[in-house]
Amino acid sequence: MLEKSMQPSRFLLCMITVSMFVLISSYVFLLQSSFSSSLPGSFFGIVLNKTSVYFNSNSVSRSDELPNNLPLSFPTNIRKPKSSTQNNVCQDCSSNNDEMRLLQQGSKKTCDPNQVILRVFMYDLPPQFHFGLLGWNGKIGQIWPDLSNPTDIPSYPGGLNVQHSMEYWLTLDLLSSSTPGVERPCSAVRVNNVSQADIIFVPFFSSLSYNRHSKLHGTEKVNMNKILQSKLVQFLMHRDEWKRSGGKDHLIVAHHPNSMLDARKKLGSAMFVLADFGRYSAQIANLDKDIIAPYKHVVRIGGNSVPFEERPTLVYFQGAIYRKDGGVIRQKLYHLLKDEKDVHFTYGSVHDNGIGKVGQGMTSSKFCLNIAGDTPSSNRLFDAIASHCVPVIISDEIELPYEDVLDYSEFCIFVRESDALKKGFLLDLLRGIKHQHWNKMWEKLKEVEHHFEYRYPSQPGDAVEMIWKAVSCKVPSIRLRVHRQNRFRPFEHIGKII
Ligand SMILES: *[C@@H]1O[C@H](CO)[C@@H](O)[C@H](O)[C@H]1NC(C)=O
Ligand SMILES: *[C@@H]1O[C@H](CO)[C@@H](O)[C@H](O)[C@H]1NC(C)=O
Repeated sequence: MLEKSMQPSRFLLCMITVSMFVLISSYVFLLQSSFSSSLPGSFFGIVLNKTSVYFNSNSVSRSDELPNNLPLSFPTNIRKPKSSTQNNVCQDCSSNNDEMRLLQQGSKKTCDPNQVILRVFMYDLPPQFHFGLLGWNGKIGQIWPDLSNPTDIPSYPGGLNVQHSMEYWLTLDLLSSSTPGVERPCSAVRVNNVSQADIIFVPFFSSLSYNRHSKLHGTEKVNMNKILQSKLVQFLMHRDEWKRSGGKDHLIVAHHPNSMLDARKKLGSAMFVLADFGRYSAQIANLDKDIIAPYKHVVRIGGNSVPFEERPTLVYFQGAIYRKDGGVIRQKLYHLLKDEKDVHFTYGSVHDNGIGKVGQGMTSSKFCLNIAGDTPSSNRLFDAIASHCVPVIISDEIELPYEDVLDYSEFCIFVRESDALKKGFLLDLLRGIKHQHWNKMWEKLKEVEHHFEYRYPSQPGDAVEMIWKAVSCKVPSIRLRVHRQNRFRPFEHIGKII
């Protein structure tokens, strides 16, 4: 009886589903035909005169193979509408493989703020907060280097400083967005009117400030890093822009785990660009509001990627073995692995052994270990990716860049810290991975590696563009929080007057 009485409702449901499908398909068809015939670009925003917007339907990584001078339209690649309304900044945030891409035509014009995924207002902070830290001196009153002359662009100091140089690449990219003649993807653009901005960028090179200026010089009582942070807090607290949102729509780069140590609490409402959350309380930094950016890798890889057979070492690790905090695991693993014949597990910083040697070691190894150190993340993971050495991540608290877009399990192996410490576990696991499976991961590494490259000028899909995209995905939730906070704001003054 029960079965029978179900029949009519099931039939009805089926009918509704089918008719919904028909309705939606015809709607989509209608839109597409009207789009191709009458109004190119106005609704879909796909075919623009100077900027092309398209979705690469195959994979995230193919973009590198695309030529720079693209034809004007990509009707076959259209996947999703792009609207230019302010409320629809975030495109394609949750999809895995489809990547929205905004490319500039070869015309070398600057980007149209109405057609980008992120409009950024950048404070004109004095040079001592940014390029001044690189030893750059402009003319009197000059705040930013003149990018139209490439030889004028100051370079970021080398060595290990480079790991945290995203503050520099992001700032340069914003500057170049308003510099005619620089060819770059139109993902983010600098706007001069703050009320048109999605996000407010604070151009402080905080990692460099920490690396270069946290020691006292001469008769100084307070180091320059502390002074700059305190000046920055003063500056921001007095800005209307900060007061209006409580700082929520501000973007601050603090990639070195020790950067912004003094100011981070006061500025904790802002969106941070970080390496991980290891030295932050969950209140001040968390995935809801902050962005994880890759380290800039330090190994330099020349030539072709070496296949499985030509990588004699099974497992590679080189680094400091005795670390504080979470790093005890390195010591334990060292004792488990040091006597295995195809394992390279040695003590030594990149300083001691030379970046070149580490690169060589990684390119001749099948697997590269990334073990929690005194912070959950390290640049070693990104060195491994650049070396196409399949990363083995043993760090329970690690956070990874753009994990909403990338599935790291396709090119990394994750091992729980507790498992890694079981005798034999790690090597049994790695020796058990078939050549074929390794090859798949190796191919994937080659596909995704460009997402971890910082470049100037920025290129489609590189780290700079990926970070802007990640920021743009946070914008709707920032707006929501700011709007909620400001519900009563318009008439607040009335109470005060009475
Ligand atoms: C498209 O570009 C051409 C040449 O640059 C220009 O003459 C034309 O006005 C532009 N059309 C629109 C709609 O911007
Ligand atoms: C800034 O943008 C807002 C909103 O678009 C506009 O009302 C205002 O006039 C603009 N201000 C300037 C100085 O252009």
